[in-house]
Amino acid sequence: MTNITDIHTHVLPGIDDGAPDWNICRQMLIQSYKSGVDSIIATPHYLPWEKNASAARIRRLCQRVQEQIREEKGIAINIYPGQEIYYHGDIVESLKTGKALTLADSRYVLVEFSSGESYSTIKRAIHHLREAGYIPIIAHVERYQSIRKPDGKQESRSAGLKELYDLGALFQMNTEVLQLGTFHQTGRWARKALEQKQIHFLASDMHNLKTRPPITKEQLCWIRKHLDRDYQNSILYGNAVEIVGQWVQ
Ligand SMILES: [Fe+2]
Repeated sequence: MTNITDIHTHVLPGIDDGAPDWNICRQMLIQSYKSGVDSIIATPHYLPWEKNASAARIRRLCQRVQEQIREEKGIAINIYPGQEIYYHGDIVESLKTGKALTLADSRYVLVEFSSGESYSTIKRAIHHLREAGYIPIIAHVERYQSIRKPDGKQESRSAGLKELYDLGALFQMNTEVLQLGTFHQTGRWARKALEQKQIHFLASDMHNLKTRPPITKEQLCWIRKHLDRDYQNSILYGNAVEIVGQWVQ
């Protein structure tokens, strides 16, 4: 499988809790490339309570890292600027003023919440971003209890996804969840959501080489075995074309 676009990564060196330096960054890029990834959106955290890296610095780093991996290793991998933005009341202002970045300067915004966030707050956030002309992509959607069980019932496996999609959100899932196995509740939920084609992007959310690594061959094997080919292409590549397709350096 080639041409994969990884839309959620903490690959830039020394900017957040992801790659600490160029050495780890380089190895994360090499591993990604070996798995078939040829485009990456760098999404360092934007946390409203912290002093975040400036958008200009993120853009510069993307360009520098892209050039360096090409020069050193001959790896042609596109690296686009973006951010994973923790939802906050001023998010629209942060985006409009260029303090926070959308994905590859598109209308798509990778947004995260606290894992215990209420379902009603997530709905309000989607409405808030859509009203301002943005398309929210909910980062690691498998992480939120309130989305997995919006009404608190065991059996309501994916009602939350359907409603939130109807409100205008898209969903990104972390590939690591595929390794949780069918006995793990979140693993079961995630597989079901994929089989029902309710997820729009699979991405690594890579932070390092060990505990939160790049997309692995084992994960891709699972995808190849369990999902139909058109859907595989959509969640690993096709849907991301909508995001990076308009990008001009
Ligand atoms: Fe992340």
